[in-house]
Amino acid sequence: MSTVKSSNPAGSALPSLARALTRVEDEIKALATSSSLPVVNSASGRITGAGGKRLRSVLILSGSLAVSGTITDRAVTAAACVELLHAGSLVHDDLMDDAEERRGVRTVDADWGPGPAVLVGDFLLARASQAALERISPFAAGRLARVVTDLVEGQVLEVMDLYDPHRSPESALRSVRLKTGALFEVGGVLAAHCADADEATAAGLARFGALFGLMFQILDDLLDLVSTAQRLGKPVGHDLRQGVYTFPLLRALTDDQRDLLARRGRELTDAEVAGLLAELRQTGLVADTLAHCTALAARAVRALPDLPDSEALATLRALPDAYLDWAASQTG
Ligand code: FPP
Ligand code: MG
Repeated sequence: MSTVKSSNPAGSALPSLARALTRVEDEIKALATSSSLPVVNSASGRITGAGGKRLRSVLILSGSLAVSGTITDRAVTAAACVELLHAGSLVHDDLMDDAEERRGVRTVDADWGPGPAVLVGDFLLARASQAALERISPFAAGRLARVVTDLVEGQVLEVMDLYDPHRSPESALRSVRLKTGALFEVGGVLAAHCADADEATAAGLARFGALFGLMFQILDDLLDLVSTAQRLGKPVGHDLRQGVYTFPLLRALTDDQRDLLARRGRELTDAEVAGLLAELRQTGLVADTLAHCTALAARAVRALPDLPDSEALATLRALPDAYLDWAASQTG
């Protein structure tokens, strides 16, 4: 089995990471377009080829590198499988959200319709499981299958609370831990698994992933309220229109705004959405959410396992704050 070793004696992680990310991209493309049906390849290749931040891949590759000093083929495949599973869930999510755009390209649902969107999402999930079983291990395939059920449950909890302005922030967090935190957590588990790490190391990487994922989704929810369509690559205020009342929103709503949502949530006009978003931007919404996420980032870093100092470990330590800084720059 070939490995991607650190490219220089000083052990700089970044060239190995960059090379491994390119290999992940190649593997994602190969798996996403491996159907015998060109139409499936067109649809699944579009969402997976439209980029994305690849944060889950960075977590898996850096985690593996920090543990063992190498990035194995298995770690590259694990990153590709997690990205495929994520992409499959987004194809389903876009269908449920009635979203037209994702990552700056038209969604599968928008161009091919709901039936193909269900099937293409299923195709991506199935390919991820198959690759994990054939190229990593039964353990990895089992963890990926299990995380699909977490994502489904997180999404079910979200759907059950749609248009409920009295949804508690804790209820929103429970959904987020499952629909997003769980996949980042599995990223940590697989990073450790592909580097043959011990149990304590695996637990630390998993916890880091769970907390980082939670922070990531809370920031995603914040940006939906306070960013711009141009920056997001999707319309702003979409969650509000769809009745998804998220953790940052629920903590910021005044009684009057809650009343407005209770009365008119399903029929909000564009002007009402714009008005609500403008009001929210005048409150402590951004500062409060960023403070909450700063604390989550610190907890994530504290959860990291005790590993020898390396650039890969430094990359992991820097990741939550770097993402937080980026998200903060996208607000307003
Ligand atoms: C995006 O979040 C969506 C998710 C993180 C998970 C979606 C999960 C499902 C659709 C359940 C089915 C999943 C599988 C694996 C079959 P978001 O909607 O908050 O973010 P967005 O603004 O990017 O849409
Ligand atoms: Mg969505």
